[in-house]
Amino acid sequence: MTPLPNEITKVPKPKRKKPAGNSTNELVFSAYAGTNDVIFPYVLSLFVAKGSKVADVTYGKGVFWRRVPTDAYQLKKSDLKDGIDCRQLPYVDADLDCVVFDPPYMHTPGGTAHVNHQNFERYYQNNAAGSEKKYHEAVLDLYFTAAKEAFRVLKEGGIYIVKCQDEVCANRQRLTHVEIINELTVYGFVIEDLFVVVRNGKPGVSSILTQGHARKNHSYFLVFLKPKGKKRWTGIHLEKRLHVDLKTHSSTKRPKKSPSNNATPLELLPFHQ
Ligand SMILES: C[S@@+](CC[C@H](N)C(=O)[O-])C[C@H]1O[C@@H](n2cnc3c(N)ncnc32)[C@H](O)[C@@H]1O
Repeated sequence: MTPLPNEITKVPKPKRKKPAGNSTNELVFSAYAGTNDVIFPYVLSLFVAKGSKVADVTYGKGVFWRRVPTDAYQLKKSDLKDGIDCRQLPYVDADLDCVVFDPPYMHTPGGTAHVNHQNFERYYQNNAAGSEKKYHEAVLDLYFTAAKEAFRVLKEGGIYIVKCQDEVCANRQRLTHVEIINELTVYGFVIEDLFVVVRNGKPGVSSILTQGHARKNHSYFLVFLKPKGKKRWTGIHLEKRLHVDLKTHSSTKRPKKSPSNNATPLELLPFHQ
């Protein structure tokens, strides 16, 4: 005889497996208010294992590395100022675990609006960089050419960290970070992460009639992977990660009230100086 439904012996449900790991909010976040030297180590901590061979190909004054212990990485510094062009690096193919790139990111529209910006033309004396392109297109051209060279010198599984900022150029909104991501994907890079750096204080402009677009007060660290076959990025083991303080730095920490909260000529400088 078929048993009635309430006569069917209940099979005990298997206990749900407790997921491994702990709950925490001590994490690396995708947006921080602060300066490059504070935020860059967070990027390294997630994506570049200690001991890695890293080339910063636009080293400048080395601001990015101010808070990174000197023995954490095998750091190779270079810059156009020292005669090494990021588009022609002195490394053999597939030599490096990570390349860092932070070029001048803005064109000069003329007048005084961008006088203090680390503009592209000032570095290249109005395009003496060998590019036929001008203004924003010249900025992009450098990002694109340098990316091809970075792809060459990176190992498979290597990481390319790119700093950029969007700009409004000739009244046209140029979302530089989107343009870079789209193009580098064509070269074979995979975009793994995007960090937003919100500057402290209120940036101003030196002269304005009507404000047409939001004043940019943020920039980006883009993180690309040169993929190794179909292998996905799964992170770095804790013991190989650069130690960063996740307890005290909050992504939403408000800057200390100081006179610098008002726009001053100094604040017309971009983030990376
Ligand atoms: C925004 S600064 C970089 C600041 C740097 N990240 C730091 O922490 O001090 C831009 C740098 O790119 C360098 N640069 C510009 N064009 C270059 C090129 N074609 N190859 C290599 N370096 C270049 C400039 O000399 C300048 O030092």
